[in-house]
Amino acid sequence: MSEKKIWAMYFSPTGTTEKIAVHIADELAAVNPKAAKGPAKRFDFTLPGARAEGKQFTEDDAVVFAVPVYAGRVPNVLLKYLDTVQGGGALAIPVVLYGNRNYDDALIELRNILEKNGFHTVAAAAFIGEHSFSKILAAGRPDDKDMALAKAFASKIVLEDRGPIQVRGEDPIRGYYQPRDRNGVFIDIRKVKPLTSDQCDHCMLCARVCPMGSIAFDNPESFTGICIKCGACVKKCPKGAKYYEDEGYLYHKQELEEIYTRRAEPELFFE
Ligand SMILES: Cc1cc2nc3c(=O)[nH]c(=O)nc-3n(C[C@H](O)[C@H](O)[C@H](O)COP(=O)(O)O)c2cc1C
Ligand code: SF4
Ligand code: SF4
Repeated sequence: MSEKKIWAMYFSPTGTTEKIAVHIADELAAVNPKAAKGPAKRFDFTLPGARAEGKQFTEDDAVVFAVPVYAGRVPNVLLKYLDTVQGGGALAIPVVLYGNRNYDDALIELRNILEKNGFHTVAAAAFIGEHSFSKILAAGRPDDKDMALAKAFASKIVLEDRGPIQVRGEDPIRGYYQPRDRNGVFIDIRKVKPLTSDQCDHCMLCARVCPMGSIAFDNPESFTGICIKCGACVKKCPKGAKYYEDEGYLYHKQELEEIYTRRAEPELFFE
């Protein structure tokens, strides 16, 4: 059998998914006897331009395929694009990053999508990343301990199809996680968007990093499309000028910060 080209393929608005995916892929490329020599290749599909065309792998590839968890699932805005990524018999390692609450059915959903599209999943993992909504929930994660675990995980991966990897999650997959207010009423944050304070100096970084391409390039306060609350513009703005004012969003953020203070640990699946 030919050597496998190792890839890290990821969607990562605030960088935690990228950090883990690249680390696993680099380690896999470095230590796996079936890996082709040289560093892992990267395919970052965070920005809309990268998702303009489908992607085709072959059985000579092995792909660490990583997405963040949104509402306990694979981000729904990615579903159409993911169906344009064809495995062609490639091996895949589905990986999800979640913000210390739970990954619910995101990992099993990602595994199923990859299997359906011609990948053979051989291992899988759920890691924890600083929550997109918060600076204190899982702050700084993945941290050194997570990175050491990711490295150990990569070193144990067997690049051989032995049937779909078994992961935690329910199948049929459950609905999207829905935040609720103190009266148990569903908080609908779908239309919420970050605002821009007068600290803004019009550097336009936010427009360049928005994965939906939704911030107008000539006016950072203006939206040209949907907002998925990914946190990229808020966390990357050098002036700290992006913020939320929506009561429901802020209530949900604070509740998450208050409830999920325990340290969730990564879960690794090998067979
Ligand atoms: C819209 C949205 C929904 C989210 N839902 C969940 C969730 O259900 N459970 C959870 O633990 N984290 C959730 N998160 C947090 C992200 O999964 C987490 O912060 C992840 O590390 C972000 O990845 P990135 O840094 O690659 O953008 C959500 C984030 C966003 C933006
Ligand atoms: S990144 Fe911040 S400072 Fe730059 S344009 Fe956007 S809001 Fe303004
Ligand atoms: S506008 Fe919304 S989708 Fe775009 S970067 Fe900001 S939070 Fe993410």
